[in-house]
Amino acid sequence: MLKLENVTRRFGGNTAVADVNLEIPQGQMVGIIGASGAGKSTLLRMINRLIDTSDGSIVFKDQDVSRLRGSELRRWRSDCAMIFQQFNLVPRLDVLTNVLLGRLNQRSTVKSLMGIFSREERAQAIANIERLDIVKTALQPAGTLSGGQQQRVAIARALMQSPKVILADEPIASLDPRNAQVVMSALRDINQREGLTVITNLHTLDTARTYCDRIIGMQGGRVVFDGTPADLTQAAARRIYGAEADDESFSEAVTSTALEQPAPEAPVSPQVARQVAKLVADAQ
Ligand SMILES: Nc1ncnc2c1ncn2[C@@H]1O[C@H](COP(=O)(O)OP(=O)(O)OP(=O)(O)O)[C@@H](O)[C@H]1O
Ligand SMILES: [Mg+2]
Repeated sequence: MLKLENVTRRFGGNTAVADVNLEIPQGQMVGIIGASGAGKSTLLRMINRLIDTSDGSIVFKDQDVSRLRGSELRRWRSDCAMIFQQFNLVPRLDVLTNVLLGRLNQRSTVKSLMGIFSREERAQAIANIERLDIVKTALQPAGTLSGGQQQRVAIARALMQSPKVILADEPIASLDPRNAQVVMSALRDINQREGLTVITNLHTLDTARTYCDRIIGMQGGRVVFDGTPADLTQAAARRIYGAEADDESFSEAVTSTALEQPAPEAPVSPQVARQVAKLVADAQ
């Protein structure tokens, strides 16, 4: 259980998040929606301690994580992996190495810098790469992948931390509808199969409705909606987004389900295919 009690964040005179109270049971998939500036990113960032709270506390399994320091804070950060809109991969490093970097905060920096990864870590990385269905890309520089593939690399990297919670800040905002669907399905699958809590900021109502158990709506730093997809009526959307929700173009943009044809997979050279096959065989 993740419990937010009176969580508030101020930036100077501006209150970005105001007095938020939430209880999120382990294993729930939660979508956070709201207009730009509503405080969604600030809320996620406080949970994983990229920024501190101004007031209130964030409690995970009876531990107040908003007060942690040093090694305990590092452990918490590795328990809640973060996924970003812009993937945050190292573009010139290959996919396998990027995924292995997910182990960074669980091992010594020297070992990591020298690229020394154990057989077990490599096997775990390959398993996660297979899980996200990007084996063919394992030896390609991450920067050469499509956006959807890069986000799947980021998820595989997050899994290397063996997290208990995944926090995703607009994970599909840079993706076309087809890739967006693949990435959301991957997150949902991990959530359901491994019982990981997933909390994700989303900018389309429809995505939140399709993939999440629970939807939280924010406006002006406050939680103004908390319910199931079925509860998210047009009236509720108006409460979250204001009159903008009635605008025709708004509803189009936030509720569109149109899916484009799947993009063709990038061709893989036989040489790369052989190397990847060897890598997989070695790891098993
Ligand atoms: N580091 C910061 N310094 C000052 N103000 C900030 C900072 N980060 C966020 N804010 C302010 O806090 C408020 C909430 O911002 P936040 O980024 O959390 O919104 P958001 O809901 O994620 O918006 P978006 O949908 O555009 O990503 C905004 O008014 C923003 O300007
Ligand atoms: Mg944001």
